[in-house]
Amino acid sequence: MKTFENNSRVVELTDVSKIFGSNEHKTSAIKHVSLHASSGELLLLLGPSGSGKTTLLTLIAGLLEPTSGTISLFGRNIESYSAKELQEIRALRIGFVFQTFLLIDSLTVAENVGIVLRFAGKTKKESRRQVIRLLRQLHIDHLANTFPQTLSQGEKQRVAVARAIANGAELIIADEPTGSLESKQGFEIIQLLKTYSKEEKRCVIIVSHDLRITEFADRILRMEDGKLIQSNE
Ligand SMILES: Nc1ncnc2c1ncn2[C@@H]1O[C@H](COP(=O)(O)OP(=O)(O)O)[C@@H](O)[C@H]1O
Ligand SMILES: [Mg+2]
Repeated sequence: MKTFENNSRVVELTDVSKIFGSNEHKTSAIKHVSLHASSGELLLLLGPSGSGKTTLLTLIAGLLEPTSGTISLFGRNIESYSAKELQEIRALRIGFVFQTFLLIDSLTVAENVGIVLRFAGKTKKESRRQVIRLLRQLHIDHLANTFPQTLSQGEKQRVAVARAIANGAELIIADEPTGSLESKQGFEIIQLLKTYSKEEKRCVIIVSHDLRITEFADRILRMEDGKLIQSNE
C-alpha cells in the first residue's frame, strides 16, 4: 500500500459535531470542532473527563459517524471509503493505543505485537525479529512468550504501544497512554511515540489529561464540554 507523503495532512476535521441518543436523552459530545494533524507531528489533545476526547478519536478512526461536519483521513473524505477500505486502513495504517489495551488473551505478547506484521504479509521469522527489537526498546523483551493476563497494567500499556507502531502505521491514535503508569514509564512511552513521530515522520495524536506530556507536544489543543477552547497555532 502506498505510503502517505511526508508533511501532508493526515487528519482534517471541519465543523464536526456528534450527538448521541435522541429526544430527551441527547448528549452533544462534540460541538463544531475543526482541527488538522499532519505527518511528523505530535498533537496533544488535553481535556477533563467527559469533554469528548475519546469520541473525537473514535470519529477520526472512522468507527463512528459524525452527526454533521466532514472528516478527511489520509487526504480523502472518510465517507468516500468503503467499509472494507476503512477496515484495511484501521488494520494497516492506523495504530491504536486504547485505555482498555485490546490485547488478545489467547496470544503471547510477541504474537499480539506481531499480528499486524503477519497481516501485512511478513513471514513469521521476519515478524518475530522485528517484534523482539521493538520489545527490547520498551524493556519488555523478557515478556515475549508470556500471555497478557499475567502482565501488570504498565506492561500491558507497553505491549499496546509496541503493537501500535510495529507496522509503521502512518497515524497513531493514543487514548490516555500514560493513564495507568507511574511517571518514569509514562515518560518513556511518550518519548518513544515522539521519536517514532520524528524519525518515521508519522502523525501521532495523544489524548490525555496528564499535563506532563505537554513538553513533548508540537501542538496542544484543549477540549472542554465537546468544544475546542484554545489552539496555540
Ligand atoms: N456511546 C455513547 N452514547 C451516549 N453518550 C456517550 C457515548 N460515548 C460518549 N458519550 C458521552 O459523550 C461525552 C463525552 O464522552 P467521552 O468522549 O468519552 O469523553 P472523554 O474521553 O473526554 O472522557 C460524555 O458526556 C459521555 O457520557
Ligand atoms: Mg476518554
